[in-house]
Amino acid sequence: MSSPLLRLVVLYGGVSAEHDVSRITAAHVLAASDRSKYALVPIGIATDGVWHRNDAAAEALAAGDDLGNSLAVEGPVVNPIEVIAGDGAAETVVLPLLHGPHGEDGTVQGMLELLKVAYVGCGVLSSSLCMDKGMAKEVAARAGIPQCAWLTLRHGVDDPAATAARAVAELGLPLFVKPANMGSSVGVSRAGSAEELDAAITEALKYDDTVVIEEAVTAREIEVGVLGNGVPDTTFPGEIRPGSDFYDYEDKYITGAAQLVIPAELSDDAIAEARELAARVFVAYRCAGMARVDFFYEEGGRGWLLNEVNTIPGFTPASMYPKMWEATGVEYSDLIDRLVELARETYRRRSSFSIEH
Ligand SMILES: Nc1ncnc2c1ncn2[C@@H]1O[C@H](COP(=O)(O)OP(=O)(O)O)[C@@H](O)[C@H]1O
Ligand SMILES: [Mg+2]
Repeated sequence: MSSPLLRLVVLYGGVSAEHDVSRITAAHVLAASDRSKYALVPIGIATDGVWHRNDAAAEALAAGDDLGNSLAVEGPVVNPIEVIAGDGAAETVVLPLLHGPHGEDGTVQGMLELLKVAYVGCGVLSSSLCMDKGMAKEVAARAGIPQCAWLTLRHGVDDPAATAARAVAELGLPLFVKPANMGSSVGVSRAGSAEELDAAITEALKYDDTVVIEEAVTAREIEVGVLGNGVPDTTFPGEIRPGSDFYDYEDKYITGAAQLVIPAELSDDAIAEARELAARVFVAYRCAGMARVDFFYEEGGRGWLLNEVNTIPGFTPASMYPKMWEATGVEYSDLIDRLVELARETYRRRSSFSIEH
């Protein structure tokens, strides 16, 4: 007798700027998922936040059709709580393929915790910590992780003009200004003068009440994939060579001018350092399952500086995270299996905790 299929609920689309890239990811992940193991339940989240159950996509795959390069958000509207729970007959694992706010930031993870279901990737705390560039920097500083100099500005708490003046005095020019909770470089700008800094702050405040101001570093951009629970495995580093003056939204999704170099050309020592540091960051941020740790590499200067951690990294077969795993010996479909296993392990462990006192 074969063992029952595991219900794999794939969440894609979502309300963030990365809606479209998530749909591309979903088409590839569904096509690569082992249907002798998983009963696939694709759930598309429209840009207005409404959930659609796309069984037609699962049926098309079962009939031998492929899903093309991007999965539409279509199908009957469903109630999130009911569709996650299912009929309770099969074990369920949820795979959130949602980037940015309302997907990667702990909100969806919180809902899944309340529903008592296993899900892939980081939990509530590490998801929201990694999404908040200000808090992430505080924790990294406390953990002794090297990073560039920064300060934060909070709407309603800090005076913007005084904070801008402090930033120029303490960090110099140029500066990078970012909304604390965004992704895809949305709202990120480089300010070369005090006037540009004021404009950059105004721009970043459109997206969040907390803004991070950083010294601009001149460095290579190198990323490391991390996979595991507890002390994790890491990939060989990969390098992003931006097509414009920094790795902005256009570069990521429109012109695609950025080049990915995998594995990055680095000395063996530098590779070992980056991998060790990426694992340390993952542990310090209490990550689970997966993350992509992005560094600046200041050659001849301070060496490795943490930029940020993405808890649901780009996951199309052409994305950095899967490609770095491939270069390290883990194929795309095996990566999905590993992530599902890690999710089950985390869920079993969390479910075993005593609530007695
Ligand atoms: N302090 C900095 N110095 C130099 N370049 C930076 C700095 N911060 C960000 N950048 C550039 O901006 C890009 C986007 O910033 P990042 O913090 O990674 O935001 P996002 O979460 O939107 O990816 C980076 O990939 C890099 O090219
Ligand atoms: Mg980034």
